[in-house]
Amino acid sequence: MCGIVGYVGHRPAWEVLLEALYKLEYRGYDSAGIALIEDGRLTLEKRAGKVSDLAEHLRQRISPATIGLGHTRWATHGPPTDSNAHPHCDCHGKIAVIHNGIIENYLPFKEELQSRGHVFRSQTDSEVIAHLIEERYDGTNLKEAVLKTVRLLRGAYAIAVVAVDSPDEVVVARSGSPLVLGLGAGENFAASDIPALLHFTKDMIFLNDGELAVLRRDSVAIFDFDGHAITRAPTHITWDVVTAQKQGYKHFMLKEIHEQPHAVANTLQNRYELSTGRIVLPELGELSERIQAAQMVYLVAMGTAYYAALTAKYLWREFFKVPIAVELASEFRYSKPYLDRNTLVIAISQSGETADTLGAVRLARERGAAVLGIVNVVGSTLTRESDATLYTHAGPEIGVASTKAFLAQLAALNLLGFYVGQARGWLSHEQTHRALESLVRGPALIEQLLQHEHEIARLAQIFYEKEHFLFLGRDLLYPIALEGALKLKEISYIHAEGYAAGELKHGPIALIDAQMPTVVLVTKESVYEKVFSNIEEVKARRGIVITVTDHRTNEIERVSDFLIEVPQSSRWLAPMLFVVPLQLLAYHIADLRGTDIDQPRNLAKSVTVE
Ligand code: G6P
Repeated sequence: MCGIVGYVGHRPAWEVLLEALYKLEYRGYDSAGIALIEDGRLTLEKRAGKVSDLAEHLRQRISPATIGLGHTRWATHGPPTDSNAHPHCDCHGKIAVIHNGIIENYLPFKEELQSRGHVFRSQTDSEVIAHLIEERYDGTNLKEAVLKTVRLLRGAYAIAVVAVDSPDEVVVARSGSPLVLGLGAGENFAASDIPALLHFTKDMIFLNDGELAVLRRDSVAIFDFDGHAITRAPTHITWDVVTAQKQGYKHFMLKEIHEQPHAVANTLQNRYELSTGRIVLPELGELSERIQAAQMVYLVAMGTAYYAALTAKYLWREFFKVPIAVELASEFRYSKPYLDRNTLVIAISQSGETADTLGAVRLARERGAAVLGIVNVVGSTLTRESDATLYTHAGPEIGVASTKAFLAQLAALNLLGFYVGQARGWLSHEQTHRALESLVRGPALIEQLLQHEHEIARLAQIFYEKEHFLFLGRDLLYPIALEGALKLKEISYIHAEGYAAGELKHGPIALIDAQMPTVVLVTKESVYEKVFSNIEEVKARRGIVITVTDHRTNEIERVSDFLIEVPQSSRWLAPMLFVVPLQLLAYHIADLRGTDIDQPRNLAKSVTVE
């Protein structure tokens, strides 16, 4: 939630900040603002609305300033208004602060500060930071003032600060919200994530919780909150700028749907030997033994990653042969779960920054459980808080609604399942070989499905004015029904429910009438006849049935109003294939409804607050 960026260097700062803000906008787009230091003065430009609104305004007053801050907001405290937009200032307009996160103890500070005469101009929790720094700043040592301030704060934050009296430096600090430093020649950067800076540099340093950095044109210095200096080598990021652009697609989401064959292929690459059926996951390191010996497995995640977790439970049934629980990280962390050294917690996250997922992982490690992260973003917090990380290699995902990261997660989860199945002796090399043979066909079959996009677009024409949708699936397609409903509601704002097909008669069937479209997922791999009966039940109530199936028969054609065909595959691959037409259906319906597909209302890509 919220994206922040800081710059000090030789270019016009407003241009750098705007470029980064466009990339960060997926984190929140309620308001945007920048602060610049020019001619011994602090200039603020901020307003409710998107970065493009701010950009239009900025182009009318070009500034030569070479130092500044930028922020794009997802509102938590106070509605999205001009005054609540960041940056926030001290009383005299000499210090500017941007913040991503939530300051939990801001209220007592605000009251105290007000009683000492501080005037607040916003309803945000963030503004207290500027006033607290003001009281601790002697006009020369900004780092010391920020250090003294962060020691007082509780909650989650990544902040960046500039002050007129320290015109050559940007001070940043983090505790619980992401922050990455970008290193350039005669310029340095800080931002909430990697893609924001890729245009300028690929050499980055990840700041840890409890660390502060002072950025000047020619230097970057890192300290812990006790003021001790820290040395950290930069990481060279291999993501390229082009992947983080739309490349002619109307939306990032559509581009990312089309990148799915690559996302899956990249995630599988170099992690198996087809001839021997061996799975090669050296990144598990010493955790491997604990993974194999685990007596209880929890999969925790949020959003789409949670549906990947739920799918894994079906895929892994035969491989662990110990209880597997799948929980929303937000529920897990407060449910007093039983955790000990023999428990394995697997946290799945595209961003590696989801607050609830991180909370669950911290709890698990406190209690001695082994933690494996399945993560897309290199160097993200989850990778550093897990005992080991299995990266998905989907590349940067910009569209708020997750697509290619989901398929990459399913690919990685399959590999992990095979690995454990082999190690525990439940899966022979021969069986793994066969499963792998099927799995590696994934990218080509997904490509084949994408060739039929125009058919789904035609279906979208028929249904885009509907206000309700039902999605049904059973066994390994149950999570896919949930994901199909989620995609549709996220980007088209149509009310959609995903249900286990077996639950149809326990409630949702009451919704069926001649207006109601029901998308039914039917695979030859599992409980075909039972799901087929559900279609009959919907038809008997005059419902509209859109069947998605890998087993086209005369029978199924007869009962379906519309039919989407998916290539036949295996249980390992079926979830990855069935979800693709659902993503495309959601996309084309949303496009016809004219919604903001890459930045749907009220949502953000990384939910970094609880
Ligand atoms: C948000 C995003 C979803 C994503 C979820 C979990 O809700 O809009 O697309 O699935 O967060 O995010 P994570 O980064 O942990 O996978």
